[in-house]
Amino acid sequence: MEVFVWCLFVCAFLQVSHQNPVDLWTLLPHILVVEVDGTEGQQPLSCLELPDELMARDIKNEDIFWRKNGWEEEQRGNTYLLQLEESLGGGNYTCHSKDGSLLNHTVVLIQEDEAIRRILMKSEQEGYLKCSAQNYNGEFHCSWTWHSNRVGKVAFIKAQRVSDTQCSVDESGQRWTCSSGQSNFNCSVDNSGHRVVCLEEQHCPYAEESQQIHISVYLRTEHFLLENYSKRFYLSEIVKPDKVSIGQVNTTMVEWSYPSSWSSPYSYFPLTFEIAQLRGRCKKCDNPCTDSKATKTSTVPSTNICQFEVKHKVKAVCVRAKDALCNSQWSEWSYLRLRRHKKNKHQQSKN
Ligand SMILES: *[C@@H]1O[C@H](CO)[C@@H](O)[C@H](O)[C@H]1NC(C)=O
Ligand SMILES: *[C@@H]1O[C@H](CO)[C@@H](O)[C@H](O)[C@H]1NC(C)=O
Ligand SMILES: *[C@@H]1O[C@H](CO)[C@@H](O)[C@H](O)[C@H]1NC(C)=O
Ligand SMILES: *[C@@H]1O[C@H](CO)[C@@H](O)[C@H](O)[C@H]1NC(C)=O
Ligand SMILES: *[C@@H]1O[C@H](CO)[C@@H](O)[C@H](O)[C@H]1NC(C)=O
Repeated sequence: MEVFVWCLFVCAFLQVSHQNPVDLWTLLPHILVVEVDGTEGQQPLSCLELPDELMARDIKNEDIFWRKNGWEEEQRGNTYLLQLEESLGGGNYTCHSKDGSLLNHTVVLIQEDEAIRRILMKSEQEGYLKCSAQNYNGEFHCSWTWHSNRVGKVAFIKAQRVSDTQCSVDESGQRWTCSSGQSNFNCSVDNSGHRVVCLEEQHCPYAEESQQIHISVYLRTEHFLLENYSKRFYLSEIVKPDKVSIGQVNTTMVEWSYPSSWSSPYSYFPLTFEIAQLRGRCKKCDNPCTDSKATKTSTVPSTNICQFEVKHKVKAVCVRAKDALCNSQWSEWSYLRLRRHKKNKHQQSKN
């Protein structure tokens, strides 16, 4: 009771006298996020939360000392007053007993409030995350880019369709699990550290999605600043088929197939194809399908026979695919150079 009254008093006092920190929450065990407005402020950190524990372990309050990122600090005691100013104050705070052994640690991450972010123009632009899915099976991935001279790490991943979702990370720090009553997501950050792959476990590819997926990626900089980026989408909006594979049947006929990663049955998940016929051969182009001009393009919706008869003078064809029922992205182009005159070619290779 006494402690409660004391806390009530202190909390009320802190509320009135300090605007900074603006907010405070625990991201993961031992990771505290402090949202700041840039003004001077203080935030107490506890080494051992329960005073009883000090007694039980026979530790004198004044013997406890603190380190910030390994460097010893002047402050002593179970409570450490974190100094906040601008975006400073983040770090790994460890507390130690007299003999130097580790008692506890708290990683403090600083999140700038909206006003500062706006001034520094570090907006959480939608569009910073790029997400796509190869099919409707419930797997998707999102990637992001960091300026090459910035060092950042994923601090937290949240993927959800409904708002009461809880997320946690395994010991490796790479596999995230987000669960609610209705949906579960497994996400893993790949080795590049710039991409996360998620799978919605009970996803039903045949049902219409009633709610969007909302993914948030929290990144932490080497200076212990926390940034969050997020995106909302339906799988049908981000689906992008893999490349189709093309082959030549005879001199004028080409054929292709659905990407093997695409959802089946194809009658339920039809693709539409675009065929570009190239007259010239563009030797300097990096990608002849996107760089050359003189083309005739046709669109072919198809669920079974994927064949197309090309015009006579055509030297090459490009084919790409897109969901026939949604206005989502085209796949990358596939390119095929046509073999036309077998005899000539044979002679040429002999010469
Ligand atoms: C250690 O610190 C964390 C906060 O980082 C706190 O939640 C936890 O209760 C502390 N452990 C003990 C034994 O007090
Ligand atoms: C913080 O320090 C503790 C104790 O040395 C260590 O276990 C932990 O991995 C550190 N965390 C970070 C993010 O540096
Ligand atoms: C998702 O993660 C949970 C917990 O780590 C695991 O038990 C489950 O097998 C994973 N599911 C998939 C499909 O990876
Ligand atoms: C990012 O953090 C800010 C500040 O706490 C919050 O207003 C915003 O909703 C967060 N965005 C996401 C995607 O969680
Ligand atoms: C190429 O194959 C298609 C279908 O197999 C056929 O209809 C067409 O007549 C063939 N064309 C030539 C020039 O052989």
